[in-house]
Amino acid sequence: MKLLHIDSSILGDNSASRQLSESVVKAWKSADASVEVTYRDLAADAISHFSSATLVAAGTPAEVRSAAQQHEAELSASTLAEFQAADAIVIAAPMYNFSIPTQLKAWIDRIAVAGQTFRYTEAGPEGLCGGKKVIVVSTAGGLHAGQATGVAHEDYLKLLFGFLGITDIEFVRAQGLAYGDEVRSKALSDAQAQIDEQLFAAA
Ligand SMILES: Cc1cc2nc3c(=O)[nH]c(=O)nc-3n(C[C@H](O)[C@H](O)[C@H](O)COP(=O)(O)O)c2cc1C
Repeated sequence: MKLLHIDSSILGDNSASRQLSESVVKAWKSADASVEVTYRDLAADAISHFSSATLVAAGTPAEVRSAAQQHEAELSASTLAEFQAADAIVIAAPMYNFSIPTQLKAWIDRIAVAGQTFRYTEAGPEGLCGGKKVIVVSTAGGLHAGQATGVAHEDYLKLLFGFLGITDIEFVRAQGLAYGDEVRSKALSDAQAQIDEQLFAAA
């Protein structure tokens, strides 16, 4: 089972989502010995923003691409291939300015590819990634789940992966992390308990 583990927090060792995503992956490996992990740190090794240069590189035949265009095209291809090869994806998604980190959005822009991960038909869009499982570690300073303020964060990710055909999506949530030590500590221990007791209970 191929598992793609993605971190996107810019807070390094102080990151709550990094701590929790590592726990999810560890628990998954304990529950399933066949798990093979590929790790991507989008903060340490950022994917450049999807840009006109990306489009031009994609539209230029490989044999006449410049070195920069070749790099762009290879980045798109390898990021997409890694996502397509994964049976499951664990994504650490902190809330930054009511949405996901720009680094995570840059990754999404490389994996949402018409004809590869979704397509348009006469009956409307069709996701091509059914069968994958996604676990999102959702962290925030405030409390946003189920609120209008969370629409561009958790709801957006649910919508995006649903568009790609992925319906098996679970959230491990630690929010209110900026509400003082007590609330932070409880939010983190509740999320850890969810990982330990619920996520792989059936495995
Ligand atoms: C640049 C930045 C923007 C943030 N914006 C928000 C926000 O809009 N709403 C919120 O509740 N918390 C916000 N926070 C707080 C983070 O969501 C919180 O620190 C959380 O722990 C982030 O997860 P991490 O520790 O894995 O980075 C922001 C933090 C940073 C660094």
